[in-house]
Amino acid sequence: MDHPMLTTRPLRTLAGALAVATLFTSSGTSANSIEQQLEVLQDFQVIAHRGASGHAPEHTLPAWQLAHDMGADYLELDIQMTADGRLVGFKDENIDRTTNGEGPLRDYTLAELQSLDAGSWFNQANPNHARSDFEGTRVVTLDEVIDRFGTQTRYYIETKSAERDPTLEAELMDTLSERGLIEAGAVVIQSFSQESLREVESINPDVPLVQLVWYYPESEDSDTLIEWTGVTPGPGTIIDADFETIREYAVGIGSNLNYQGDAVIDEAFVKQAQANDLRVHVYTINDIPAMEQLIDWGVDGIFTDFPDRLVRLTR
Ligand code: G3P
Ligand code: CA
Repeated sequence: MDHPMLTTRPLRTLAGALAVATLFTSSGTSANSIEQQLEVLQDFQVIAHRGASGHAPEHTLPAWQLAHDMGADYLELDIQMTADGRLVGFKDENIDRTTNGEGPLRDYTLAELQSLDAGSWFNQANPNHARSDFEGTRVVTLDEVIDRFGTQTRYYIETKSAERDPTLEAELMDTLSERGLIEAGAVVIQSFSQESLREVESINPDVPLVQLVWYYPESEDSDTLIEWTGVTPGPGTIIDADFETIREYAVGIGSNLNYQGDAVIDEAFVKQAQANDLRVHVYTINDIPAMEQLIDWGVDGIFTDFPDRLVRLTR
């Protein structure tokens, strides 16, 4: 099955899909907004990883505000669900690293979570970027992020706790739909979980999806790479059919570049994915030489904690 984002089939390429787009998609969303976003994804994307999280505490309004002001194309955020079913931007399963609380996020109600300090840890860990107004900044809901940045901003949302929260995709898609983000063509959904992406697709096929992959050696002293969830073989043995399978539901693949300092993908991987009509976005790249190398390989976007650096290189 081709990606069902547009009703006209077959969708041979993203560019082809744009050329043959019909006025309305299968879920009734105006094709203009979707067409516009597919067009955007043809160009290089600066994806602000957890906001400008090199400059401000990740997954907080200050971090996303900085990323927005720096000119990032997408604000990246991981979505999880609280004990009382609210969607919040948060990376880890436990809250210990980035708040002054402890234990699993899903044990906390939104009110409990928002009574915590999600900023002071950053000042202690990053004295060069510390700011007094980061102290006491809160965990925020998806709604609060949308309230701040609206439908003219693009969001690159990861379903982080899909296995733990079976209703996460439905709640997420409800929110995005109600807030007009899908209609505005303002959101990409990404996940390491193929099942989660398929679930999103089944709820609303009018959202571009990106399959995340994480490659690492199968054992400590092995040169053979494997993928975390087994969604593809390692880059050394990957074949067109593996990319074609992802292209059935996704428009792109999001890969790590390195594992413990060693590259796990190369230019050939990027070109092969692109030849199979997948955009390639690489995470999480903060140093300028690595950014330059990836740009030279022709990747379609980079996740970075320092969107200012990548904006300077690419515009
Ligand atoms: O979503 C891309 C990248 O952010 C995946 O890694 O763990 O930082 O969410 P993580
Ligand atoms: Ca992420």
